[in-house]
Amino acid sequence: MSTADIGLIGLAVMGSNLALNIAEKGYTVAVHNRTAARIDDFVANAGALGDKVIGQADLGDFVQAIKRPRSSIIMVKAGAAVDAMIEQLLPHLEQGDAIIEAGNSLYTDTTRRFAYLAPKGIGYLGVGVSGGEEGARHGPSIMVGGSKEQWHNAEPVLTAIAAKFNGESCCAYLGEGGAGHFVKTIHNGIEYGDMQMIAEVYGVMRDGLGMSPSQAADVFKAWNKGPLNSYLIEITGHVLAAVDETSGTPLVDLILDKAGQKGTGRWSAIVAQELAVPATTIEGAVAARSLSALKDERVAAEGIYGKRSAGKADITLDELEKALLAGKIAAYAQGFAVMAKASEENGWNLPLGTIAKIWRAGCIIRSRFLDQMASAYDKGTPANLLVSPDFVALMKENHGALRKVVAAGALGEFPLVCLSAALSYFDSYRQGQGTANLIQGQRDFFGAHGFQRTDAEGEFHGKWPATIQVDAAKPQA
Ligand code: 6PG
Repeated sequence: MSTADIGLIGLAVMGSNLALNIAEKGYTVAVHNRTAARIDDFVANAGALGDKVIGQADLGDFVQAIKRPRSSIIMVKAGAAVDAMIEQLLPHLEQGDAIIEAGNSLYTDTTRRFAYLAPKGIGYLGVGVSGGEEGARHGPSIMVGGSKEQWHNAEPVLTAIAAKFNGESCCAYLGEGGAGHFVKTIHNGIEYGDMQMIAEVYGVMRDGLGMSPSQAADVFKAWNKGPLNSYLIEITGHVLAAVDETSGTPLVDLILDKAGQKGTGRWSAIVAQELAVPATTIEGAVAARSLSALKDERVAAEGIYGKRSAGKADITLDELEKALLAGKIAAYAQGFAVMAKASEENGWNLPLGTIAKIWRAGCIIRSRFLDQMASAYDKGTPANLLVSPDFVALMKENHGALRKVVAAGALGEFPLVCLSAALSYFDSYRQGQGTANLIQGQRDFFGAHGFQRTDAEGEFHGKWPATIQVDAAKPQA
């Protein structure tokens, strides 16, 4: 008999936590996993929620256990495993059923799968789930894209399991095809930017202000009570306060300074470039992770140039806090600008205000700041967050501190890849008269690419002098 409200395939960490979350909200969930032993373990350890879980080792039985129209969440490794799972499921599904893929998939893969399944009458929902293990268990932020009709079938369950902000569910349908996974990708790009800027500020505290990890931890804990209040600031306080049990050394001092990356941050930088939307802070964060990975080269280069020799940084903790806030505004402005352009290009009609709302709780970048952003979008959709009145006021108040920190970084030899990118982005964005007139002159000089003039309509060329041919092989006298 079909008694399950929804199905879930893939009982690794995220999948099993999501399944328990579903069961806890009162829905019956059928579960399946490639390795049958894991299904038995999962059901055996579900405790009081066991009544709401139906383990099925056979895929056909799994599908039959779900009420029609069926919704099956697949939570397997992004990439080929998703395509393989779709093929295995297909023979068992009927028209009107839906597959809900909830991994960190590349949005173009989701768009392709959506288009492949639509003519077969099978709905495909590409769902971004943020919040890690804890979020999956107790309430993640859920970004839904794909088949609108089948979304309505799964809506009660997905809305129930998502995090709540002031009683509002942090789950929303955002658009067709790969819209949900696209938004999750940009979430992760912003996450990279946030994390990198926090790390840069920690670097200034450590090397420029001579603070110990526990002193820095106290500052982050205090900041978490102010405008920077967010999950990432909160966990930074905990990470910096942690002490290695064996040696008594602050744990952060024992962690190798090489950051990993699974790809979503990089995808957001790539898509920003593809859409020609400037996202220098997000790009900088990806590059900073790649630079961190070059540990051996960095150590060798330090041997050549010497360690930083500058003394104490001439900045206050108050300025650092303000600089971080200004940098954060620039990073989010970039992420939202990428989403706005992608929405236009893909015909998604992404609800930017709703995205800010569903990021207020559950996800990794949840913060007080996102509530301010959601309110800003309630008042209208600005061309860029930097020109939204609430954020104009915040930038006016804080960009001076960002400027001071970036200047201190330059003079004090601290790498501030993201904070300086955020400042340059802000300065470039608000500069009415830029310097691309010179670029246009150069392009026309060497390639006759033409330029527009400020004093006349049309396309023009300059009367440039002929260039001297330099024989590269012979040094000039
Ligand atoms: C989330 C996280 C999650 C995961 C990242 C880590 O929103 O819950 O972003 O998706 O932790 O994929 O990404 P990196 O390994 O690239 O840092």
